[in-house]
Amino acid sequence: MNAAVQRIGVVGLGAMGAGIAQVAIEAGFDVVGREVSAELGEAARDRIEHFLARKAEKGERTRDEADAALARLRTTVELTDLADCDLVIEAIVEELAAKRALFAELDRLCRADAVLATNTSALSVTELAAATRTPERVVGMHFFNPAPLMPLVEVVRAELSSDVAVATALEVVERLGKVAVPCHDTPGFVVNRVLIPLLNDCVRVLDEARVTPEALDTAMTNGAGWPMGPCTLLDLVGIDVHVHASEALYEKLREPRLAPPPRLVAMRNAGLLGRKSGRGFYSHGA
Ligand SMILES: NC(=O)c1ccc[n+]([C@@H]2O[C@H](COP(=O)([O-])OP(=O)(O)OC[C@H]3O[C@@H](n4cnc5c(N)ncnc54)[C@H](O)[C@@H]3O)[C@@H](O)[C@H]2O)c1
Repeated sequence: MNAAVQRIGVVGLGAMGAGIAQVAIEAGFDVVGREVSAELGEAARDRIEHFLARKAEKGERTRDEADAALARLRTTVELTDLADCDLVIEAIVEELAAKRALFAELDRLCRADAVLATNTSALSVTELAAATRTPERVVGMHFFNPAPLMPLVEVVRAELSSDVAVATALEVVERLGKVAVPCHDTPGFVVNRVLIPLLNDCVRVLDEARVTPEALDTAMTNGAGWPMGPCTLLDLVGIDVHVHASEALYEKLREPRLAPPPRLVAMRNAGLLGRKSGRGFYSHGA
């Protein structure tokens, strides 16, 4: 399998995929990004261009470097344009059937030595790999949101992943300037397995101890050394994203702490999603 990755395919250029594509072009990789429509591909390119321009304004990159990075990005609606990629990272919607169909197609059209990775947070990498005829080349590469800012990538070994596929993913993470933690394919991998029940506990404590979100955040930043309070973090992650991940983990492990607290489900249902909707635990004015 391929040790010297140069061309990376990214499927799905939403919040995560566009961030991953940005990180990859900034690190010098050629990227082919696939979206379902040309408009969505263009919108993702515009967002990336905006972030690169901001970096140039702040002096974190020269204008030439930002332009050169953007020139390494090509967007497409054709999956076949990913045929000569050395590595493909899937970042489409978190739905098993859609991802399995995509992996089956990628398996058919990508070179035999290409590594296929998924950015799934809550699905089984092994189940996705099973949709291909070559499960040994499938791994998880779990980036954190926002991908350009968060250093960690969990490199997930599924049941049948080969050592070479895992090594290729680890090498790419290093070249991206990120920090890799290799782990096995278990629900929530490492960070979410710990963080999701912990954040659920924090929300339950709001009602049990009758404290405000501000007070809870103050307690955890000053008493536990958290860089950001749990309510601030939940607003940043998105209440809907957290509830979805929490439900998925609960379904798999059936631990009561993993079930989303009713208060969070009610917030999700009411559209109080945090920063993205303007209101969650806090108001986020324009
Ligand atoms: N948002 C997070 O905090 C976060 C963190 C880590 C991992 N993830 C995972 O990353 C993946 C993507 O999440 P997101 O938040 O970026 O979602 P998103 O909804 O922002 O983006 C998904 C994108 O995929 C596109 N898409 C759907 N089907 C496609 C297909 N067949 N081909 C190409 N594009 C397709 C959609 O048009 C959309 O733009 C999910 O598996 C999610 O669990 C999300």
